[in-house]
Amino acid sequence: MDQAEKKRQAAKAAAAFVEPGIRLGVGTGSTVNCFIDELVPLRGRISAVVASSRETEQRLRAAGFEVSDLAETGDLDLYVDGADEANKHFHLIKGGGGALTREKVLAAASRRFVCIIDDSKWVAVLGRFPLPVEVIPMAQSYVSRQMVRARGQPILRKGFVTDNGNAIIDVHNLSITNPPDVESRFNQIPGVVTVGIFAQRPADVILIADDSGVKRLDRR
Ligand code: 5RP
Repeated sequence: MDQAEKKRQAAKAAAAFVEPGIRLGVGTGSTVNCFIDELVPLRGRISAVVASSRETEQRLRAAGFEVSDLAETGDLDLYVDGADEANKHFHLIKGGGGALTREKVLAAASRRFVCIIDDSKWVAVLGRFPLPVEVIPMAQSYVSRQMVRARGQPILRKGFVTDNGNAIIDVHNLSITNPPDVESRFNQIPGVVTVGIFAQRPADVILIADDSGVKRLDRR
């Protein structure tokens, strides 16, 4: 099975979590795009849908959904999103698509977070994927220097502006052995908007597709 098919299979498995009357948050990325395709026949059972990015909002609208704001819906029943890395503690790295801030808000506002990945995203230690950090533009160089102090190699994502008008620094060469701690420490650096570690609010369920099918992992 190729990677695209694995993403489709994980997305298909997530459709089973969409219960009648649900208020649903939808993440961003190629795996989530497959999930949006799966949502089309389920439209009648979704009472509200909130998007984590402009890109997802456009896709949902094109698929015939009316997209709500989180301010109107209040907390959500379910959030479905992909990830760039995941470990056995259900900690994630996210933000490869640059939507990490709104993704983190929707994950925090949701009762259940289902993460859909293919097996290339599964790691023992987070950090092989460069850690995305959203920063306000004037703080780019200051935050980069703090990342060097933390033994990372920061690289500004050139020509990229987030939906919130900010910049992304991708931090290479980190080995994140204590994700909740690193998430808190990096969050406290002035100028940082969001760190792409999702450990304080980890996934509740991971659906991971490999050659043999989709495995479901539940956090206790
Ligand atoms: C976007 C994300 C995505 O979930 C992550 O980059 C995975 O993307 P894909 O499903 O395309 O592999 O965090 O900000």
